[in-house]
Amino acid sequence: MNQLLIVTLLTLFGGIIANYVCPPNLDIFLPCECRVDPGILPLYRSIECKGDQPINLTALFQRLSHELKADEKDYLYFMLFNKAVDVLPANVFADITFQHVELDGKNLTKVHRLVLNGTQDTLKSLETLNLPLVDGNGDWDVFKAINLAHNLSDVTLLYTNLTKIPDNALQSHPSLERIEILMSPSITSIGRNAFKNLTKVEFISIEAHVKDIGDEAFAVSHVSTDQTLWLSFIGNNLNNHTLRKEVFNGINRPVDLNVMLNDLKFIEESTYEAFLQQNPNHTIHSDTECMDSRNDWLRHKYPNQWVDRNC
Ligand SMILES: *[C@@H]1O[C@H](CO)[C@@H](O)[C@H](O)[C@H]1NC(C)=O
Ligand SMILES: *[C@@H]1O[C@H](CO)[C@@H](O)[C@H](O)[C@H]1NC(C)=O
Ligand SMILES: *[C@@H]1O[C@H](CO)[C@@H](O)[C@H](O)[C@H]1NC(C)=O
Ligand SMILES: *[C@@H]1O[C@H](CO)[C@@H](O)[C@H](O)[C@H]1NC(C)=O
Ligand SMILES: *[C@@H]1O[C@H](CO)[C@@H](O)[C@H](O)[C@H]1NC(C)=O
Ligand SMILES: *[C@@H]1O[C@H](CO)[C@@H](O)[C@H](O)[C@H]1NC(C)=O
Ligand SMILES: *[C@@H]1O[C@H](CO)[C@@H](O)[C@H](O)[C@H]1NC(C)=O
Ligand SMILES: *[C@@H]1O[C@H](CO)[C@@H](O)[C@H](O)[C@H]1NC(C)=O
Repeated sequence: MNQLLIVTLLTLFGGIIANYVCPPNLDIFLPCECRVDPGILPLYRSIECKGDQPINLTALFQRLSHELKADEKDYLYFMLFNKAVDVLPANVFADITFQHVELDGKNLTKVHRLVLNGTQDTLKSLETLNLPLVDGNGDWDVFKAINLAHNLSDVTLLYTNLTKIPDNALQSHPSLERIEILMSPSITSIGRNAFKNLTKVEFISIEAHVKDIGDEAFAVSHVSTDQTLWLSFIGNNLNNHTLRKEVFNGINRPVDLNVMLNDLKFIEESTYEAFLQQNPNHTIHSDTECMDSRNDWLRHKYPNQWVDRNC
């Protein structure tokens, strides 16, 4: 954990700067634990669940909700490292609140759309690592859960088993700044309007095996602004698929687009020229076979908007 970052977050968002310690009756957290990281100041308490036996988290948090005093219910992190928990149901945290939720589950495939209900106002970041999350089905949908957490600014999903980022997945989320969906080769498509109207977004990174992206997937801004959007498609196997140019419609922001590590021999004119024409501040970062003649259009017409590692 980056301590400076956490101190900064606490200072900016944590409200009153005070030391928070664990309640005296630690047994009520079992089989999880309340802990305070002594390396971080001010002190702040977190809840961590480990082990390889199933835990009924709903029952655990209902117990905490009853036993804890009102000023003992806010925590910095919820960290799940337990290897047996398979779903996170609606309202699992009851009225216990967190600023950061970190899930490293191994057996956790489904989260309910209301999983974050109760902590939706305080949650700043959600990170999943090694969760074999499967595609949404009705009420079980990680994207719907993110949409409920309206103050969430950072989302990181690593090593998922998702096959798609659905249409409108995160559309109009008011607070998201960084979205990273990485190391998920099972994802082959990104839906229409998936990241539309994300007024606060600064950074979107998708590392999957994307074959198809829906129209206006990245139309983050309906009014033009000059705040750069960092858009990374590093490592998506794009060499095998040609994206339609409509993918990039409606962004209305200068974009730093990174398409490295896709085995691209050249940048496809039919897809990317319309993109570069949208805004003279758009830039493509690539690692093509620079001298390939199919890059000539870039070399001749857009030398200031193209940075290739091999040129
Ligand atoms: C978990 O605990 C809750 C609350 O006590 C209960 O309603 C639910 O049935 C339990 N779930 C499982 C899978 O045992
Ligand atoms: C993982 O979850 C499944 C149900 O989805 C359950 O049958 C299995 O026992 C769990 N695995 C472990 C290691 O607990
Ligand atoms: C969300 O949580 C609140 C309490 O934290 C509860 O009153 C409400 O019923 C929950 N909403 C849903 C739809 O379950
Ligand atoms: C969360 O969002 C609500 C309204 O959307 C806002 O009033 C509140 O200040 C936010 N909370 C935090 C901790 O930022
Ligand atoms: C997730 O993907 C891995 C690797 O492809 C696979 O071994 C595993 O069975 C999948 N799990 C689920 C729940 O789909
Ligand atoms: C864009 O998102 C904001 C929330 O951040 C919402 O209030 C607004 O209605 C949305 N606008 C459109 C055109 O969807
Ligand atoms: C991508 O194309 C190359 C040949 O151009 C082929 O060898 C490779 O198997 C393809 N990969 C996928 C995932 O389709
Ligand atoms: C491009 O960037 C320059 C310098 O930051 C800025 O002055 C200009 O307005 C930008 N142009 C567009 C179309 O955003």
